[in-house]
This record gives sequence, C-alpha cells and structure tokens, in this order.
Amino acid sequence: MRRRDKLITAFCLTAFLAMGRAGAEDADMRAPLALTASEKAFVLDQMRLFVKSLEQIVSGLATDDRAAVAEAAAARGGRRFQAEGKMPETLAGRFPDRWTGFGRPMRAGFDELARRVTEGESKNQSLARLGEIMRNCVGCHAAYRIVDAPN
Ligand code: HEC
Repeated sequence: MRRRDKLITAFCLTAFLAMGRAGAEDADMRAPLALTASEKAFVLDQMRLFVKSLEQIVSGLATDDRAAVAEAAAARGGRRFQAEGKMPETLAGRFPDRWTGFGRPMRAGFDELARRVTEGESKNQSLARLGEIMRNCVGCHAAYRIVDAPN
C-alpha cells in the first residue's frame, strides 16, 4: 500500500508539473529570436531609442514644433539607419522575413512622417501616421521574444 501511495503521489506531482509547464508555454506564443549578447544589446538599445523618439514626436506635435517632430522621426527612419551603418554585420542574417516585415515599414514610416511633417500635413494626419507606425511595434512584440544564442 505504501508503495502504491508513493506511486500515486509521484504520478500526481508529475502531472501537475507537466500541466504547469504546458501552461507556461501557452502563455507565451511569441517565436524565439536567438541573438548573441552584443546583438541583443544593439537591438534593445534601438528599442529604447524608439520610445525616446516617440516621446519627442508626440511632444513636438502637441506644441506644434514641426522641426522637432521631423528630426525625431528622421532619427529613427531607414535612411539615417542605413547611413549610420551601425548594425552589427551578423544581425541581418538573423532576422526572419516576418521580423523584417515589421521593421522595414516601421523605418519607412518614420522617414515618411519626417517628410510629411516638413511638407506641412495636419497634426491629425501625422498622428494617424504615427498610429500606423506603432502597429509595427505592437505586431512585432506579439510575434517575437529574444533568447540567448551562443556567442
Ligand atoms: C521587428 C520587431 C520589432 C519592432 C518593429 C519593434 N520591436 Fe521593440 N522589441 C522587439 C523584441 C523582440 C523585443 C524583446 C522582447 C522580449 O524578448 O521579451 C523588444 C523590446 C522592446 C523594448 C524593451 C527594451 C529593453 O531595454 O528591454 C522596448 C522599450 C521596445 N521594444 C519598444 C519598441 C517601440 C516603441 C517600437 C516601435 C516604434 C518597437 N519596439 C518596435 C521587437 C520589435
């Protein structure tokens, strides 16, 4: 009897732990993107720059400071990113097409925002444009998480 009790207890415990693990996986459906420590540091640094620029864009729109909005948007646009050439060489090969499908339109959107604001589009048009840009942040965050790749 004692042995049987032990077996039942062990079975229940295993089942319970297995359920917990399955539950944890269900909770995070994001695909893992494996990056080395330095690649990850670069990507997350870019992410923090995105938030910084969003703040500058929103504040600039609120105070009608078009020059500030245009500069903040251009700073995160694809043109300047390419020109700066700071992206680690290994990184491009890591990005799946779906990732690029969020990243490219987002960068192009910042370029377009800089141009349109300079040309004098209305604040509401700029805000709508910003919303569209940010759908790429939301979409990519729902799709991917970063995991450690061997360096
Ligand atoms: C192409 C994909 C992609 C796009 C586009 C994207 N992000 Fe991210 N971002 C990520 C991933 C992946 C992480 C890490 C999430 C994780 O591992 O849990 C992240 C992390 C972050 C972080 C956390 C930074 C840190 O230091 O930990 C911030 C803030 C952030 N993103 C802001 C933004 C903003 C704002 C935008 C849009 C303007 C944006 N991101 C666009 C993929 C993206």
